[in-house]
Amino acid sequence: MASEKVLAYLEENHRRHVDQLCDFLRIPSISSQSEHAADVQAAARFVADELQELGLTVETIDLGGHPLIFAGTEIRPDRRTLLFYGHYDVQPVDPLDLWDNPPFEPVIRDGVLYARGASDDKGQLYTHLKALEAYVRTGEELPVNVKFIIEGEEECGGHSIYRYTEENPDKLACDAVVISDTTLYNETTPGICYSLKGLCFMEIRVKGPAMDLHSGSYGGTVRNPANALAAIVASLQDADGRCLVPGFYDGVLDLEADEREGFAALGYTDEILMQETGAPAPWGEKGYTTLERMWARPTCDVNGLVSGYGGEGAKTIIPATATAKVSMRLVPDQDPEAVARAFTAYVMENAPEGVTVEVENLHNAAPVLVPRDSDMVQAGMRALEQGFGARPVFIREGGSIPIVGTFQDCLKSPVLLLGYGLATDNIHSPNEKFHLENFRRGARTSAALMREAAG
Ligand code: BES
Ligand code: ZN
Repeated sequence: MASEKVLAYLEENHRRHVDQLCDFLRIPSISSQSEHAADVQAAARFVADELQELGLTVETIDLGGHPLIFAGTEIRPDRRTLLFYGHYDVQPVDPLDLWDNPPFEPVIRDGVLYARGASDDKGQLYTHLKALEAYVRTGEELPVNVKFIIEGEEECGGHSIYRYTEENPDKLACDAVVISDTTLYNETTPGICYSLKGLCFMEIRVKGPAMDLHSGSYGGTVRNPANALAAIVASLQDADGRCLVPGFYDGVLDLEADEREGFAALGYTDEILMQETGAPAPWGEKGYTTLERMWARPTCDVNGLVSGYGGEGAKTIIPATATAKVSMRLVPDQDPEAVARAFTAYVMENAPEGVTVEVENLHNAAPVLVPRDSDMVQAGMRALEQGFGARPVFIREGGSIPIVGTFQDCLKSPVLLLGYGLATDNIHSPNEKFHLENFRRGARTSAALMREAAG
């Protein structure tokens, strides 16, 4: 339990903390768009300045991409060490016209804060800064050593943090890595997440004629790249939702019986899915429940498909090119590099004649599985229960946090995924939001964790 003094501080300063979070959210730190490079720098500075004001030693590390922030308290050997990870960069905001307020002008409606990055990840990351602030400003002795490693390339597939972690494992050494960049189970039940999906992101480019052709003049004489790409895309999956890339399922760990029981006991229904997504019907790989598919089965999805004319009315052309972005979400113990090779070979072998086909692996992330029985997971459970006033459940996530696999390999410490977002927070989408109650409870949880993890 965090002390009364610390909890009271968080309560009394909640409004001010929300105002500060809004300042953080006003910085349009879109890491994938070069016109926002200065904003990304500004967001890094925002975090660095705040950690410095709290008395931490702060380093801003430039490895050629967006800056990494490393910060730490004094390291006392008699205390355990928590390493907090998060990211200050955000996703692009398009389509802009679907936002109810400008994405970088935060608005609070009915206790919900709307802005790009509110949930992913500025709001969640900020809970840990505010918990630390509560200890520092009340003079309450910190029960643990605290380190932060905060990056600005999570959303754009940057490499700085991988390099830094591989080259500086001693600097990041800790008893647990703590990450809040995932979700609660639902509005009333917190979750300890013990698995993240990995990712293998591919681009397929199909080229035909040198320019768009009149489809009457030339139709039937040359292969249409859009038709060819449609055939390639159709070859990726069978009617039962299974991926047809040979070897795709190699390494997939089957769910343990207790996991299947645990998922079933959560009571997630297809009605909830329909309500959350607005889709007309559930769909997916046969033989698995919705939650099993969501959390523990690999998938293959087109993320973008571009060719020809999509404007108003008709335009009779054979397009010159067609492009597909395809991502495969992977589960433990699939190997993203092996999947990328198998995907490329499969597409190239089946490439229709009469067009040229190129396949590129844009980026990968390793899937993650965290042991559920460590002391640190127990500490996380107690902290969540104190912060949210409800017993947490074990959950998995369909999303990916690419650096986590590298933390596990290089630091050999348990990873605690304590998510404070909701699946319906519209992350990566218009009207991203964060419930201020979850911001408040997240900060309480983080403060409690600093105590519970101390042992
Ligand atoms: N915070 C998300 C991960 C996440 C997504 C957690 C959904 C819980 C639910 C993270 O910032 C993210 O978006 N990751 C990307 C990684 C990708 C760009 C390599 C993702 O999952 O698409
Ligand atoms: Zn995130």
